[in-house]
Amino acid sequence: MSSTLEILKKRTSANNFNNTKQISESDIRELISYACEAPSSFNIQHWRFVAVTEKDVKEKLKAVAFGQQKISDAAVTFAVLGDLKGIDKLSEAISPMLKSGAIDQKAHDGWLGMATGMYKDNPQLVRDEAIRSASLAGMNLMIAAQAKGFVSGAMVGFDPEGVKKVLGISDRYVPVMLIAVGPEAPGNWPRKPRFSVDQVLSLNKFKEF
Ligand SMILES: Cc1cc2nc3c(=O)[nH]c(=O)nc-3n(C[C@H](O)[C@H](O)[C@H](O)COP(=O)(O)O)c2cc1C
Repeated sequence: MSSTLEILKKRTSANNFNNTKQISESDIRELISYACEAPSSFNIQHWRFVAVTEKDVKEKLKAVAFGQQKISDAAVTFAVLGDLKGIDKLSEAISPMLKSGAIDQKAHDGWLGMATGMYKDNPQLVRDEAIRSASLAGMNLMIAAQAKGFVSGAMVGFDPEGVKKVLGISDRYVPVMLIAVGPEAPGNWPRKPRFSVDQVLSLNKFKEF
């Protein structure tokens, strides 16, 4: 198995997927379990996923995503969503820690109180956070896919309202990205260049590039 660092250097965005291959539900569940290991603000875990494997649903999704063919060809295309009311589930998310004794009631209540205070009356921050946390899960998903021998392709080229309509998603959730995952077909581009570390890294004081 490749190391994490090798996988980071190996992952590219694929356009070409083998459209004759399927993915098992257990593989899908395993990928999502790794996605869910991502960190999130206050452990709110804003991410939700819809795994689209059925041909007719893929076609409808493709139609609201500028006809991107990889949505149909990939074994699965995930819609990664961010929960705009994630805070409502925070107590449920952290109560196992209270039950196991990892935190006491005071810490539990303080945790909830801080999170509630931070996001209250700040819809912009709520939305930013939902997108930020769900994006980290999306990255985990792509790394996990690569580690399991699949390729992936993230997409923001879609009509969010169209995606919500096709997949039956309420206004509570913001579509963050689509991620096509599956076995590769030939013809994908090689690694794309990156800015050098010197171009993007400042030490101690920001230096504009
Ligand atoms: C948030 C996000 C949105 C993207 N949207 C699209 C898209 O809609 N269609 C597409 O073909 N590629 C999309 N890409 C892929 C990028 O073009 C790609 O990540 C970038 O060119 C770097 O290439 P690499 O991923 O192969 O390293 C997206 C990537 C990200 C992270």
